[in-house]
Parts: sequence; C-alpha cells; structure tokens
Amino acid sequence: MIEVRQLTKSYARHEAVRGISFHVDRGEIVGFLGPNGAGKTTTLRMLTGYLPPTSGTASIAGFDIFRQSLEARRKIGYMPENVPLYDDMRVREYLSFRAHLKGLDNNRARQRVSEVLDTCGLEAVKKKMIKTLSKGYRQRVGLADALVHDPELLILDEPTNGLDPNQIRQIRELIKRLGETHTILVSTHILHEVEIICNRVIIIDTGKIRASDTPANLVNQMRAAGRVTAELQVDPLGAAAAIARIDHVKKVRHEELDHGWSRFHILSDSGSDVREAIALLAAQYGWPLRTVFRDEPTLEDVFVEMTRKD
Ligand SMILES: Nc1ncnc2c1ncn2[C@@H]1O[C@H](COP(=O)(O)OP(=O)(O)OP(=O)(O)O)[C@@H](O)[C@H]1O
Ligand SMILES: [Mg+2]
Repeated sequence: MIEVRQLTKSYARHEAVRGISFHVDRGEIVGFLGPNGAGKTTTLRMLTGYLPPTSGTASIAGFDIFRQSLEARRKIGYMPENVPLYDDMRVREYLSFRAHLKGLDNNRARQRVSEVLDTCGLEAVKKKMIKTLSKGYRQRVGLADALVHDPELLILDEPTNGLDPNQIRQIRELIKRLGETHTILVSTHILHEVEIICNRVIIIDTGKIRASDTPANLVNQMRAAGRVTAELQVDPLGAAAAIARIDHVKKVRHEELDHGWSRFHILSDSGSDVREAIALLAAQYGWPLRTVFRDEPTLEDVFVEMTRKD
C-alpha cells in the first residue's frame, strides 16, 4: 500500500529525513514512532504529496506520489498535525465543502457526509459552528474530513495530541475501529498508544529508521539481550568492576541508594542469564544482597535504546 525508497528531505542545510525506506502492507496499522524533531511530520507530508522530497521515491497503491499525485492522493485520507478547520462553518457544511473539493458529486457528497458524521460520532454536533467545538470534537471533524472521499489509506499525524484522557481514549477507539477496514499509518510519540492501536511499529530518530517490527517482537528482542538488576550493600565502584568480570557481562551501570545500598544494572550477552553468577559473587565476598532479578523490558526501553543520543 505504501512503498518508500531512500526518501530524503533537506531544509536548507538541515537533513530532516535521511534516506529512509519502508513499506506498509494493505490492512496494517503501523505506528510511526519517534521523539520530537525525528522527522515524522516531514515524512508524512512527503507521503501525502504536500512536500517534495530532496531525493528518493514513494508510491501509494502503486501510484508514484509525485508523478501520479492525483491518483495517489485519492487513495489517502490525511489528517495533519494541526487540523486546519474553518471556524465559521458548521460541521456538516464544512464536510460537504471538503467533499466537493475532493471531487465528489452532490449525491455522493451527501451520502458520504452522512456516513462520516455517523462513523466519527458527530451526528449531535453537525449543525454547530466549528469554533464552538471542544478539541476532541475538532479532531473528529479532522478525521471525518480525512475519511470523506472514502480512501483506503489513512495517514494520521499525532491524532491525539492535546486531548484530555477521555478524548484520547475515544479517538483511539475510533482509530482502532477504522483499522478494521482501512490501512493506517499513524505518527505518535506516545508509546502506550502504539501498543494499543498498532500491529507494527516503525521507530524513527534523527531522520533515520531505527527499527521496524511488532511491539511484542521488539520487546522480545530486548528481552533476549540479558538485563539484570541487583541491589547490593557494597562499595559500588569495586563491586561494579567485579561484576564486569563475570562471563558474558557486557556493561554495568550503578546508582547509589540509601544506607550504603547500590543498584546495579547489568547488560549481558543475548540469551545469557547472570543472576546466579551475581548471587555467587555476593556470597563469595560476603556482600549483603537484597534483590536480583531479570528486567522485563517494555516498549519504552526499546524506544529509549533505539533513540538514545549517547
Ligand atoms: N519548514 C521547515 N524548515 C526548516 N526546518 C524544518 C522545517 N520543518 C521541520 N524542520 C526540522 O526538521 C526536523 C524534523 O521535523 P519534523 O516536524 O518532521 O519532526 P517530527 O518528528 O514531526 O517532530 P514532532 O514530534 O515535534 O512533531 C526538525 O529538526 C525540524 O526542526
Ligand atoms: Mg510532527
């Protein structure tokens, strides 16, 4: 459905997107995840034909987004980061205006507007002026706009940004429901959101793709690399050096806690488990040991690992 090859965008001398390639299959709900300034919006604007790339290609349902822009755009429902709405229009009137702008004839426009009012839960506010709507309802109008020409693919840029927790939940549920009948690429920097909505994640940072997999696989990958936490009452530097000498241990980091206790974060080779070795070491030196456990990584750990600046 989406095929991106070596896409690059430079603003003046700053390379915001640096030769990224990825694809999204029909029916997938893919989360486009990255910290602020990662290049998410820049990528999505190129995909939707609003921003010409510096180099590289992208196609939507086989149509080149730049050479066959009209056909490609017809397949896409795009909800930008800041939904531009006409404040002085009423909801239904606005959607009808948008439908005509997107080339629907009168009958089809009337039919689609009434369908998207229903899909997006806007029936009760269809006669209200847009400027009187809450942020959550404005986002729904933005979604209804993206949907009105009945596209197969939805590209949503941070659709829950700035909403309160109830509104966030409602928009997420709406997106999940739309995912049953649409292909979706949704950008966010909220990890939890990805776990709820998406069946695949693409992690982008400083204009490059760092990972692409299901949330569960990313977490498993991380789990395979052994991570153990231990708390010992010792001189932390000496103990860290001793732990670092254990077979398979790659990295030891520590933080000092109260009453002489220190917490050690130990990274070891994939598939290794150094818990026992640490307990033995503590026994050998007579170090008080109060915890030793394997870390259960979360998607957040994966994200931090992939986008860390050091
Ligand atoms: N019009 C522009 N002119 C110059 N630089 C820009 C422009 N738009 C974006 N940038 C820069 O390009 C980089 C990527 O920006 P982009 O908006 O794509 O990031 P993002 O991942 O969407 O971030 P956010 O989570 O804050 O929305 C940033 O360093 C940004 O400052
Ligand atoms: Mg953005």
